[in-house]
Amino acid sequence: MFGKKAFPKGGVESLHPNQAQGPLRVGVAGAGYFGRFHLQKVQASSREALVGLYDLDPTRAAAMGAEFGTFVAPTYEALLEQADAVVIAAPAEQHFSLAEQALKAGKHVLVEKPVASTLEQADSLVALAEKTGLVVQVGHLLRYSAEQKAITERIDRPLYIETMRIAPFRERGVDVSVILDLMIHDLDLVLAIVDSPIESVDALGAAVSSHFEDIANARVRFANGCVATITASRISLKTERKMRIFSEEGYLSADFVTRELVMIGRKNGLPLPGTNGFKRESVRWKESDMLQAEHAAFAAACLEGLPVKVDARAGRRALAAALAVTESIAATRERMILSGLIHQKPAGDY
Ligand SMILES: NC(=O)c1ccc[n+]([C@@H]2O[C@H](COP(=O)([O-])OP(=O)(O)OC[C@H]3O[C@@H](n4cnc5c(N)ncnc54)[C@H](O)[C@@H]3O)[C@@H](O)[C@H]2O)c1
Repeated sequence: MFGKKAFPKGGVESLHPNQAQGPLRVGVAGAGYFGRFHLQKVQASSREALVGLYDLDPTRAAAMGAEFGTFVAPTYEALLEQADAVVIAAPAEQHFSLAEQALKAGKHVLVEKPVASTLEQADSLVALAEKTGLVVQVGHLLRYSAEQKAITERIDRPLYIETMRIAPFRERGVDVSVILDLMIHDLDLVLAIVDSPIESVDALGAAVSSHFEDIANARVRFANGCVATITASRISLKTERKMRIFSEEGYLSADFVTRELVMIGRKNGLPLPGTNGFKRESVRWKESDMLQAEHAAFAAACLEGLPVKVDARAGRRALAAALAVTESIAATRERMILSGLIHQKPAGDY
């Protein structure tokens, strides 16, 4: 293995003295659909300075470079040389190698979700982050949403959580299953509010329009007795993103599309007659920019050493849950084939 000395020291000390207040020099690796949004946020940020981009596809790289008027690095190494930090928005299977290379070069990392493809890779990034003291932040965007903030302000100890994240089919994101594409967002949100390890997962799902599961449902039981039922689909006719929570504090329903939250609790809102003291609270949000908030948090972590809200450990935890769901789906499918409920599809047929 590599010794401690192989790494430049991380955190504030890793930056040039006059950069402690910024701007943080940021490069973007992977200039596709989502990389473009990252490029916009870096360019608009007062604490980050866009130093360039790198994409494996030179045509796409050149087009994005022209759109943003920024340096198009001929290699990933060339991008890293210019930067204090890198945003990794390449496909999931590339996350680990790009993040590892950046950390070994002494650069902070904001890596899109999922943090990596395997738990071994995620463990390795957790270890590298600790060893180098560099920031590894994972792009679980919803943690920076107004909805998540409002939920955590109201619910401390959930008993039952139900989430629904469904959307019409698009060609994007089908290089991974709906579990790693969409469900991982809700797994991360649930894991952030349930203070207990996962005890068991019972899931089922199906590949319909891609090579991987496009629809999935999981029932996750935690050691403390809490249960979460999580549904994700990318082959739905409509878009819906909802979370409902029952707890001793009350009942909460959050709609991440219409940006509304309703809480039936004892603390705030208008009294509900005949309910023995319960009140109804309604909250609505104006637009709030989650990706901008994610970048602000990243810059603050790199420049000021502020704690990383969604760090490599959180990314690893969400990945472990997603892989447990995937394993459970495979086991359920085996059972369905053995019982004759469904037929084994020929290879390549989906
Ligand atoms: N946080 C979110 O809400 C959210 C939403 C969408 C996508 N994402 C994540 O963003 C990532 C990219 O998704 P996308 O939809 O933009 O995909 P995309 O296919 O549109 O873009 C990926 C880009 O990465 C490039 N690329 C491939 N290998 C590379 C490498 N080794 N180095 C540099 N560039 C490379 C490709 O040429 C392509 O331009 C995925 O990990 C996805 O999970 C996150």
